[in-house]
Amino acid sequence: MNTLYRVTGSAKISDNIFSLVFDAPAIAKRAVPGQFVHIDCGLPLRRPISICDIEGSFVKIVFEVKGVGTTRLAERKHGDLIDVLGPLGNGFPEVSGRVLLAGGGIGSAPLLYAAVRSGKNCGAVLGFAGASKAILTEEFAAVCGSVQIATADGSLGHKGFVTDLITSDGDYSAIFACGPRPMLKAAVDRANELNIPVYVSMEERMACGIGTCLVCACAAENGGYKRVCCDGPVFTGGEIKW
Ligand SMILES: Cc1cc2nc3c(=O)[nH]c(=O)nc-3n(C[C@H](O)[C@H](O)[C@H](O)COP(=O)(O)OP(=O)(O)OC[C@H]3O[C@@H](n4cnc5c(N)ncnc54)[C@H](O)[C@@H]3O)c2cc1C
Ligand code: FES
Repeated sequence: MNTLYRVTGSAKISDNIFSLVFDAPAIAKRAVPGQFVHIDCGLPLRRPISICDIEGSFVKIVFEVKGVGTTRLAERKHGDLIDVLGPLGNGFPEVSGRVLLAGGGIGSAPLLYAAVRSGKNCGAVLGFAGASKAILTEEFAAVCGSVQIATADGSLGHKGFVTDLITSDGDYSAIFACGPRPMLKAAVDRANELNIPVYVSMEERMACGIGTCLVCACAAENGGYKRVCCDGPVFTGGEIKW
């Protein structure tokens, strides 16, 4: 299977956050929101990055530089070839009715494709440390029925947690949440208070990305373990042992 794809665009979009677009028809035609790709960054292990958006055969990812893998990824330029496996994982379910997308920091990126697919039938609440860390707000505003921003320092939108913005306004049938674990836990608690089904996208370190090594196992509410790479990364809020 050919997994080499041509980079067609790269940009720094915020403080330490980059976007990369590559032409991957085989990924683009199969991917659903919430799935991820596994990228060879020239290291022994690939790095998992969520699909942020798809336009035609072009796949967009948005990532924060954390260590050597994402540093190398940020150096990829137009015309380079990258080795990408995917789409991997399950993705968010199709739900009838309105969806509230709740993103925390870089966790907002995977929700954009869900917004594009849902269109005006979704709302978004996005939280960032501060205005300089905000990403994709215009892209969400272009497709969602409503967008609200929260920042920890109050430099943009509501001052406080993004989960403060999860309310009963909007008649939502489901919440899709992606972000740091404490934010996901707070989103699940909020959804339970409001009696709205909630789906969370989990992050764990990965090795194989296809279900064979168990590196990505996370504790499940039923006492067992779930593999984030192939049982997830999307789970119902009740499946995870918080
Ligand atoms: C399903 C999935 C989807 C993801 N989607 C995105 C995305 O869309 N955008 C994005 O910026 N990041 C995403 N991540 C996180 C991304 O994979 C890591 O930031 C990346 O692998 C770090 O690699 P590195 O070599 O730069 O850093 P490393 O040198 O490997 O580590 C640097 C720091 O990052 C932490 N880290 C490493 N891997 C992970 C991980 N998998 N999850 C959380 N923390 C990690 C380490 O603990 C360490 O503190 C996703 C992770 C998963 C599991
Ligand atoms: S990363 Fe190997 S089982 Fe999930």
